[in-house]
Amino acid sequence: MLVQDFIPADIEVKTDQGSASWRAPSNIALVKYWGKYEGQIPANPSLSFTLSASHTHTTTHFKKRTEQGEIPTFDLIFEGKSRPDFHPKISTYFERILPYTPWLKDFHLEISTENSFPHSSGIASSASSMAALSLCVLEMERVLYPSMTDDAFLRKASFLARLGSGSACRSVEGPLVSWGRHEKLSGGSDLYGTAYGGSVHDVFREYRDTILLVHKGQKTVSSTAGHSLMKDHHYARQRFSPAHLNLTHLIDILKNGDLEGFAQIVESEALSLHAMMMTSIPYYLLMKPNTLAIIEKIWEFRRDTGEPLCFTLDAGANVHLLYPASGEDKVLQFIKNELVAYCEKGQYICDQSGQGAKKLGSAV
Ligand code: DP6
Repeated sequence: MLVQDFIPADIEVKTDQGSASWRAPSNIALVKYWGKYEGQIPANPSLSFTLSASHTHTTTHFKKRTEQGEIPTFDLIFEGKSRPDFHPKISTYFERILPYTPWLKDFHLEISTENSFPHSSGIASSASSMAALSLCVLEMERVLYPSMTDDAFLRKASFLARLGSGSACRSVEGPLVSWGRHEKLSGGSDLYGTAYGGSVHDVFREYRDTILLVHKGQKTVSSTAGHSLMKDHHYARQRFSPAHLNLTHLIDILKNGDLEGFAQIVESEALSLHAMMMTSIPYYLLMKPNTLAIIEKIWEFRRDTGEPLCFTLDAGANVHLLYPASGEDKVLQFIKNELVAYCEKGQYICDQSGQGAKKLGSAV
């Protein structure tokens, strides 16, 4: 599909109001998106597990405006409080999606949103929040264009979410979602995420992700700033082609259930991501000493027990522990005995792969 295919037909908007409520999950990339081109086009394809417990719940009320404007007006309530500091990001999002949702400028939106995880936990909320808001917008569009199919709905929700935050396009469906073109992914697109259609071994069913909260403060460099540092990065090309290759290997691993191979790809992707940050100009570090201490402990545990526990990292200091459901008791014991000491206030979040976003209600 082309971007033009997401522009709806011109219609006279007769509906005066409506509301929609969606819950969208966070996701954790196994092969990372790092670096992008104009228009939120990823420099390499990525693949993620959709999560389940970590999510954003958003309700949006749409009311027809008396005067027309260039972009929709909105109020935003985050966890019960007005947050004007979130407005610039949402305004940019509306400006970007308006060519594809021109009906929106006739409306005022009251957006009320909350996360299942603490906002200051260092867990990126942009993926789940942009996906939830996009699903609410599309729910209203479905009222105006009732002939929209379910497939078209999901595809466009992911397309809009991408314009808010790249990784958000992988937070609509589950349990595995790819984004970006790759020779082994039929139907893969740079414009939206696609539920992974390849064959997946049973060992990856309800795969666990326990998120160790190492540092809950604000990041020193945002992901968006990090992506833009990839533009003149000396190693950019050396990063983009291994990412393609890692995805090729991961596709085989998802099929054959080789957990040793899985750990190798996923950990190498996480460390490559942080290596890119450490070699950007200006260079920076998002890992903390406790991040490294946890990684060393994980390797020791894997060596000593043979348990297929591995880690990945987002653009931050927190550590995601990935493991099959069958290893849960042993790994949770290991976390309690040895890793909790490295977590801020001893906090961690138990999550697992999930099925994607869920509609919680709508009305006109
Ligand atoms: C490290 O999607 O947060 O989590 O598109 O600028 O909003 P923007 O960036 P964002 O980048 C996330 C990058 C990552 C890896 C990944 O999720 O693939």
